[in-house]
Amino acid sequence: MTATGLRPFQGRRVLLGVSGGIASYKTAGLARLLTTAGAEVDVVLTRAATEFIGAVTFEALTGRPVHIGLFTPGRTLDHIKLARDADVVVVAPATADFMARAAMGLADDLLTACLLATESPVLLVAAMNDRMWAHAQTQANADHLRGLGYRLLEPEEGLLAAGEGSGPGRMAAPDTILAHVGRLLEPASSFAGRTVLVTAGPTREQIDPVRFLSNYSSGKMGVAIAAAAWRRGAKVSLVAGPITVPVPVGVEHVFVQSTTEMRDAVAGRVGTADVLVMSAAPADYQPAAPSANKLKKTGSARELELRETPDILVTTRASRKPGAVVVGFALETDDLLANAKRKLDAKGLDLVILNAANEPGAGFGVDTNRVTIVQRGAPEPEQLPLLDKRAVADAILDRVEALINGR
Ligand code: CTP
Repeated sequence: MTATGLRPFQGRRVLLGVSGGIASYKTAGLARLLTTAGAEVDVVLTRAATEFIGAVTFEALTGRPVHIGLFTPGRTLDHIKLARDADVVVVAPATADFMARAAMGLADDLLTACLLATESPVLLVAAMNDRMWAHAQTQANADHLRGLGYRLLEPEEGLLAAGEGSGPGRMAAPDTILAHVGRLLEPASSFAGRTVLVTAGPTREQIDPVRFLSNYSSGKMGVAIAAAAWRRGAKVSLVAGPITVPVPVGVEHVFVQSTTEMRDAVAGRVGTADVLVMSAAPADYQPAAPSANKLKKTGSARELELRETPDILVTTRASRKPGAVVVGFALETDDLLANAKRKLDAKGLDLVILNAANEPGAGFGVDTNRVTIVQRGAPEPEQLPLLDKRAVADAILDRVEALINGR
C-alpha cells in the first residue's frame, strides 16, 4: 500500500503475541504485513517462542521494542500498559499449551497477563500438531475460549512440521490473519449483517472449443470491493469471471465463464442482496452460433456473426430486493459524463463509477484507479484522485453506506 497505509490499520496499535510453535516463523511475515499496512505493532513473545524465533527479528520488522518477561525491572507494569494501548490483540500461533493456559485464565507470563488485562478484541490463531488439535481437551479449550468472547481462527489443512505429513494443524497464512485483524479493527458500520453481492472480472464468449471473445478486465476492482465489504462486517458473495487475482478472505464465491452464466448467478442471488455492486466487465456480444468443432483456416476472410448478450443489470432489475443500493460501473472513451448519466437511468442505478478507458494508471489490469462518482440526484459528480484500488473501494463503500443510512 502507499505511505499513508491501509484502512483500518493506519496508526492503530496491534499487540501481536507469539507462543512457542514452529509456525512462529510465519508470524514474522504477519508482523511485516501489519507494519506495512500502517499499524504500530507491539510484539510479546512467550519464553517458548524465543526457542523458535528471536526478538531481534521482530524488532527489525516492527521498528519497536519486543517484550518478553513479566518481571523486567522498570517494566513491571508492561502488561497493563500494552493491554490498555492495544486496539486489537492477536496471538499467532496460539499453541495447544497457550490455549490451555488462556482457557484457565492463568497470568503467569506477560502474554497471558495481557489477555486478562485487555478490553480490546482478541484473535487467537491456532496452530499445532494435528493430533493435538483433534484432542478432546484442546477442543474443549477452544469452545471455552470462544464462549469467553475470543475469536478463534482454526488451523488449516496442510503440511505440518517435517516428518509429520499433513493435516488440520497448520497456522492460517499471514494475509488471511491480516484480513481478520482488519475486520476486528473496523469501526461499527451499517454493513454489519448486510448482504453484499459483487461481480468482478471479464466474461468469455466461446467461438469454438479453443477460442473466445473477452476483454482485459482483471477483476482487481471488484475483488477490492468484496474484500472491503467483508472487512466492514457484510456477508459477501462474489460472482466472478476468469479473474487474475485471488478471491478475498471470508467471501463466498462462484466462478462463471459467459455473460449468460453471470446473469444466472446474479439472478439467483440478487433477491437477498442489500447492496449490488456490478463491477464486472461482461462481454456485450457473443458468437451467434459457436462451433462445436475447432474452426479451421480456409485461406480466406471469415465473418463471425455476433449477437448481444443479456444485460445483467437490466434483466435482473425486477428481482432486486426492495430498497437495495445498486452500483454500476462505466468504462468510457468518449462523452464520459453523458454516458455515465445515461447508464444511471437506463440500468436503475444509485451510483455510477466512471473511469476513462485510456487514462494511464486507471482501468483494467493496474492496481490504481481514478474514478468519478456519479450519484442519482446529486448536483455534481465527485472526482477522486488517482488511488490504490483498495482506497477506491473504500471511497465507493463510504457512499454506499451513506445511501443505506438514508433509506
Ligand atoms: N453490465 C451488465 N450486463 C452487461 C454489460 C454490462 O450488467 N451485459 C453492467 C456492467 O457491469 C457495468 C454497467 O453495466 O456495471 C455498465 O457497463 P458498460 O460495459 O460500461 O456499459 P454497456 O451497458 O455495455 O454499454 P456500452 O457498451 O454502450 O458502453
